[in-house]
Amino acid sequence: MPRIGSVQLASPVLLAPIAGYCDLAFRLVARGVTGMQPPGFDPPAGVSPHQFGLGLACTDLLCPHAILRENEKSLWLAATSPDDQPLCMQLYGRHPDVMAEAAQWAEAHGATTIDINMGCPVDKVTKKNGGSKLLCEPDVALRVVRAVVAAVKVPVTVKIRLGWDEDTWVTRTLPPRLADCGIGAITVHGRTARQMFSGKVNHEGIAQVVEALAHHPHLTVFGNGDIQSPDDALTMIQRTGCHGVMIGRAALGQPWLLRDTACLLLTGRRHQPLGRADRARLVLKHLDLLNHYRGPRVALNTIRQRIARYSPHLQPWPNLRRTARELTNLSALREMLIAGIEELQADPDAQVRFGAAEPGREDLAATSR
Ligand SMILES: Cc1cc2nc3c(=O)[nH]c(=O)nc-3n(C[C@H](O)[C@H](O)[C@H](O)COP(=O)(O)O)c2cc1C
Repeated sequence: MPRIGSVQLASPVLLAPIAGYCDLAFRLVARGVTGMQPPGFDPPAGVSPHQFGLGLACTDLLCPHAILRENEKSLWLAATSPDDQPLCMQLYGRHPDVMAEAAQWAEAHGATTIDINMGCPVDKVTKKNGGSKLLCEPDVALRVVRAVVAAVKVPVTVKIRLGWDEDTWVTRTLPPRLADCGIGAITVHGRTARQMFSGKVNHEGIAQVVEALAHHPHLTVFGNGDIQSPDDALTMIQRTGCHGVMIGRAALGQPWLLRDTACLLLTGRRHQPLGRADRARLVLKHLDLLNHYRGPRVALNTIRQRIARYSPHLQPWPNLRRTARELTNLSALREMLIAGIEELQADPDAQVRFGAAEPGREDLAATSR
């Protein structure tokens, strides 16, 4: 089972940081810590029954200046709770002193590990020479890492891409230098920054990182990119030799994918699929957690957006997305979900009827996929 420095993970599956999505409410849903283990949940050895087989979840990327100023929005992004463990807090930036101070703040506010983002390709971050821009400036990257490692007791990790572009891969050169700085793990998204999210994940590039770190056996490598099923995770590990995987986009609408993936990787067995009533209960729990932490206005806006992600995995429920968009108060949306759960409890294959009479177009498309 992978470790990150002194931290023993319960599962080789990590939840990726996805800015705008992986807040405390979603992480708690993904961890399944809220009394929602599905009936018959059969955790593999080493995986707590109180988790969906999730080794570590990560906050969205945090701006060090903003958290040190305790800016309200950043405080929510960094918010955690005792059930939200183990937790990685991710920082981005290029100034060693500020990053070190922010890492100390993160350590004091519940971080089990601290990740330094060297993969974000978004202008807002790279224009300040942070994120994936650090791949172009290895000396600056190493100064940042050394400062953060020296500033905190918790393990420090780095998340990289293959390089800035096709001609400047860092897969063989940068990882051993990062390892020498004392990091505990490295996550590799198998694309270049220029690619953003286009093309397919490149397993060869991730394998190069694993090879380059052959002389650092205590350093854990997590492969990342395009994992949409437990089998994709298994393929990534078999092709690259990485020790664990990180899953992002595919987990947003089906957080149980993390548990199912852990089950396959750890036992070779497939987990029984999570029933639709339990999936709908997860959505309800997500709504309740959002309401608890953020209040009804933010909860309504956020859950509508998130139902778009959950919807394909709840079908047939033809009018779900449209109804969620049209309902203007949280109690009505909550009632819709409860009515749907009741229908699915009575008949797990039911076409959920609750809501408007006409199916929304996107939901019909999802049904036919
Ligand atoms: C909308 C969006 C936001 C993201 N935000 C972050 C982030 O804050 N930090 C980070 O390291 N990666 C971020 N990523 C990249 C993901 O963590 C992950 O590396 C990438 O999506 C590939 O994995 P996947 O195919 O499993 O989603 C983001 C990706 C998306 C699509």
